[in-house]
Amino acid sequence: MKYVNFPGTEEKVSVLGLGTWVFGAENWGGADEQQSFLAVEKAMELGVNFIDTAPFYGNGLAEKIVGRAIKKCRDKAFIATKCGLIREGGWVSHNLSPESISREIELSRQRLLVDEVDLYLCHWPDPAVAIEDTVEALLKLQKQKKVRHLGVCNFDLNLLKKALRVGPIKVLQVQYSLLERETEKELLPFCLEKGIGVMAYGVMGGGILTGKYLEKPQLAKKDARRMFYAFYQGEKFEKSQKLIHRLQGLGHPLNQLALNWVRQQPGIMTALAGCRNVAQVAENFGAIDWDLSSDELERIGELEKF
Ligand SMILES: NC(=O)c1ccc[n+]([C@@H]2O[C@H](COP(=O)([O-])OP(=O)(O)OC[C@H]3O[C@@H](n4cnc5c(N)ncnc54)[C@H](OP(=O)(O)O)[C@@H]3O)[C@@H](O)[C@H]2O)c1
Repeated sequence: MKYVNFPGTEEKVSVLGLGTWVFGAENWGGADEQQSFLAVEKAMELGVNFIDTAPFYGNGLAEKIVGRAIKKCRDKAFIATKCGLIREGGWVSHNLSPESISREIELSRQRLLVDEVDLYLCHWPDPAVAIEDTVEALLKLQKQKKVRHLGVCNFDLNLLKKALRVGPIKVLQVQYSLLERETEKELLPFCLEKGIGVMAYGVMGGGILTGKYLEKPQLAKKDARRMFYAFYQGEKFEKSQKLIHRLQGLGHPLNQLALNWVRQQPGIMTALAGCRNVAQVAENFGAIDWDLSSDELERIGELEKF
């Protein structure tokens, strides 16, 4: 594995990280708890120490699985979890109020079996709460040694700047892949300039960029892959296939190409790979054994932007 310094520290985090949304099982075609557990163990065995999870993934299930799997090697793992997406009945709402955050962190610490979470991220912006209040609440958790570092996900540039005025936001987690390159416009250059670590998610397009779908998959209406990743639907799927066809010409395993292209972009700290089992862990983290050449990076960069 390769490692980089976590922003502003000497702590090392792996440049490829394990994503655990699939562990939640619901709306992701199901998942097997034991396979998820073994996937974490295998990832750690391969040197992956950065593990991303959230209470939202299976309503706490993903955090519980991660907690069990890292119990014996807590010191080796760098755990990121999140706050701000709340389930009430069948509904999901945003809540980044100080009260809600202080409730959420206790539940996450219990499920993860940790005293201190390494990286605590706001999962999505909450327009109903002033970002200043949210960051103040996070700083309080930091003082209480319940979280070590702070980050945000899915913030636009304006909101990120506002958050930075209140506290040391070390990480931005955003969708970034060969199929979704919006982040390149403003956020990546800003983070690079300010030394904010970018954690990229959806790097394999939620599975699409592995090239395994020869036809549009028939996913249930509420399937997260279909709802969240736009290229599972309509003409975006056809477009994704055109890109995949061109990428195949480079002769690399597509899942690894997708991961390496992102991790080799300037400003990227970690490219996350969602893995449902040991086989996917091995296939994906094997990407670390090779790099795209500068010529290949240039050729891929020239492919029509999605
Ligand atoms: N902050 C946020 O708002 C946010 C949003 C999304 C994701 N995330 C985080 O980022 C992580 C990564 O994103 P993601 O999991 O959504 O998408 P992803 O990494 O692009 O895709 C992961 C999915 O692709 C399929 N896959 C992975 N490796 C494969 C392989 N070698 N061969 C075939 N299929 C393979 C698996 O699903 P199937 O087996 O079902 O095809 C897997 O669940 C998440 O797990 C989560 O931790 C954060």
